[in-house]
Amino acid sequence: MRERGRKRIKWASRRMPVLMSIREDYSQEKPLKGIRIAACLHITTETANLALTLRDMGAEVRLCASNPLSTQDDVVAALNEEEGIEVYARRGESEEEYYANIRKCLAFKPHITVDDGGDLTVVAHTEGQYEGIIGGTEETTTGVRRLREMESEGVLKYPVIAVNDSKTKYLFDNRYGTGQSTVDGILRATNVLLSGKVVVVAGYGWVGRGIAMRFRGMGARVIITEIDPIKALEAVHDGYDVMPMYEAIKGADLVITATGEPDVVRREHLEVAKDGVLLANAGHFDVEINLRDLGAMAESVSEIRRNVKEYVLKDGRRVYLLCEGRLANLCAAEGHPAEVMDLSFSNQALAAVYLLRNRERLKPAVYTLPDVIDEDVAQRKLASMGIRIDEPSEAQLRRRWTEGT
Ligand code: ADE
Repeated sequence: MRERGRKRIKWASRRMPVLMSIREDYSQEKPLKGIRIAACLHITTETANLALTLRDMGAEVRLCASNPLSTQDDVVAALNEEEGIEVYARRGESEEEYYANIRKCLAFKPHITVDDGGDLTVVAHTEGQYEGIIGGTEETTTGVRRLREMESEGVLKYPVIAVNDSKTKYLFDNRYGTGQSTVDGILRATNVLLSGKVVVVAGYGWVGRGIAMRFRGMGARVIITEIDPIKALEAVHDGYDVMPMYEAIKGADLVITATGEPDVVRREHLEVAKDGVLLANAGHFDVEINLRDLGAMAESVSEIRRNVKEYVLKDGRRVYLLCEGRLANLCAAEGHPAEVMDLSFSNQALAAVYLLRNRERLKPAVYTLPDVIDEDVAQRKLASMGIRIDEPSEAQLRRRWTEGT
């Protein structure tokens, strides 16, 4: 187990050149020396490489899971047994264990919290465990939304960097990362042919558009559902059919939710769904498919394949639910590939340094990283791919300078 984890972590590290360059650049100076970091992330090979980078930058790191079904137990074993990084997580942990593990991370008295979805930050606040925390970072759209609510209610106690909102994060991780890993998760769980299938993607944010693009690329006939008229209009102009879920689900072979909203698929939709429809979620929380409605409508439920439950409804139709309505890309597959997490986690490592260097100036609010950091991450990635771009001319530089002032 431990050996398998170690090899897979190494495999991922070779696909994370930007993070490795940051690790190397800072391993002498150790800007995070003496800093305790508690990170609540999906425990994957990519997260392991972030934890090892933060450690080599001087920090002491503890990890817990941001989802009870996404933990890769071989990674936990490798980090705990070989690297001396304590990880409090196991795949399939109960809700009580999940929160107990978050509390263990907070008991470590972190200076910095690194979060994916907001649970660590919220528990730190609701249980009064924020003394001594200099700041935090947040990886995902859902978490940033929760933080902005806390900020507007005046309850946020420390500054948080919305790493999600860096361009080198959301344009790549949310779009290409989720696009590919959702195809991967659905194929590993079901092994169905995608070509010719009717796939409904709920939500046309960065995640939804990545998923739609990749399923279209596999030959599926993609329909988009939205509640935002502008995003719906964009989807139409990108060439997709757009319609309400009630209409779309009648002909759907597969429905994937990616909205961040609850009850996107609920009783009224399940009542008209096509026999044999597959339901999968790619949003952070397991709230997008109403599991209570599905359970109440079912006569029997059984696990028909790993990560797939068959619900036989009272009228005989069958509905297949993937990963209990949790993130299919992380629960049935391994999450986003390392190449894209390279960008997200480079921003995370640089955000930790940024928090420390600006600690006197930052107030309890939600911040984004400055453009120079985004551009540095992009330049490093391009360099690692052997791609050069033009230097701005004198006139272009002057124009950029005057526009920026
Ligand atoms: N979120 C999505 N994919 C991930 C991965 N591979 N590791 C950590 N967090 C993720």
